[in-house]
Amino acid sequence: MASGNLLRQLIKTGAEGNLEAFKKASEDVIQEEREKHHHLLASDLEKILYGRSSVTSQPFISLIKQVPSDKERGLPLLHIKEPLRRLEDVILSDDNRSLIDEVLQEHHRQEVLKSHGLAPADRLLFCGPPGCGKTLTAEVLASELGLPLATVRIDSVVSSYLGETASNLRQVLDFVASVPMVVLFDEFDALAKERADAADHGELKRVVNAFLQLLDAYNGRSLLIAATNHEGILDAAVWRRFDEVLVFEPPNLEQLRKLLACKLRGLRRNFEVDSNEITNLFKGMSQADVERVVRRAAKEMVLAGKEFLDERHIKSAIRREDVRQARMKRG
Ligand SMILES: Nc1ncnc2c1ncn2[C@@H]1O[C@H](COP(=O)(O)OP(=O)(O)O)[C@@H](O)[C@H]1O
Ligand SMILES: [Mg+2]
Repeated sequence: MASGNLLRQLIKTGAEGNLEAFKKASEDVIQEEREKHHHLLASDLEKILYGRSSVTSQPFISLIKQVPSDKERGLPLLHIKEPLRRLEDVILSDDNRSLIDEVLQEHHRQEVLKSHGLAPADRLLFCGPPGCGKTLTAEVLASELGLPLATVRIDSVVSSYLGETASNLRQVLDFVASVPMVVLFDEFDALAKERADAADHGELKRVVNAFLQLLDAYNGRSLLIAATNHEGILDAAVWRRFDEVLVFEPPNLEQLRKLLACKLRGLRRNFEVDSNEITNLFKGMSQADVERVVRRAAKEMVLAGKEFLDERHIKSAIRREDVRQARMKRG
């Protein structure tokens, strides 16, 4: 709990109806809770203090109508949706969790930053293997900020004409600069990959450079996130462009326990998620794999007419998952 002095300050400013001072005192309480690693409480308090605007309002619908499209083919360049999942739905490493908390704080309190000539972090790079939560975390950031999630359709952006690709990217950045959103360039290395197939190495460089130059020049109201499974192909020039880099990895034991607790929420079961026997079954899996196994196991339980999830269901789901993985590798 917050210290006595902070509580006194909070109640005093509230009782006096001094809104500015009350906000400041509330922020101090939130900060203190965060320092004590009471993340859920801190985030809850933040939600109460800043509220969340609903994104399914009229402006949201008209926003979808304004999405720019590729001139040649008429394909929309962005997909806009209302983010649903929240911070409690994603299990992050301690490092990533602190970075996400900082980014949220900077955005919640951007007026304070701006009054000091500072800007919140608005260019993030997410990297790491598939299925570890990059796309999910972008959605979570959007929902926590009460903003729409706009996913850039890289396949629509990339045109067979080099000039057109650059102009599509410019259209995207112009559009998102004016309306606050969380913008995800998901698997953005595909920008480069398409070009690599074109066998012209110089062209590849030019597309990526065009993207980076646009990022450099970007000074808009949206939070930009670029995500990639192939950070190996990105050179130092790319990394430098981002305010923060988050590396997503498969879960360690502690994260695995939390993940299982989260994914098994609301399911009746006759085993402990903490037991080594259970966690050992999931060794080496990504978060997405774990989720798929749990979902399979739950279906099996339901279809077998059982009320409790059993270790047996998990084992059988993993066996089926192994078959699937083997098939995917062969294919
Ligand atoms: N860190 C995580 N915490 C909770 N669920 C996760 C996590 N990572 C992945 N998942 C589950 O797996 C699904 C796919 O993950 P995704 O975010 O698309 O991974 P990536 O973008 O890194 O490939 C998510 O929608 C979510 O349901
Ligand atoms: Mg993804």
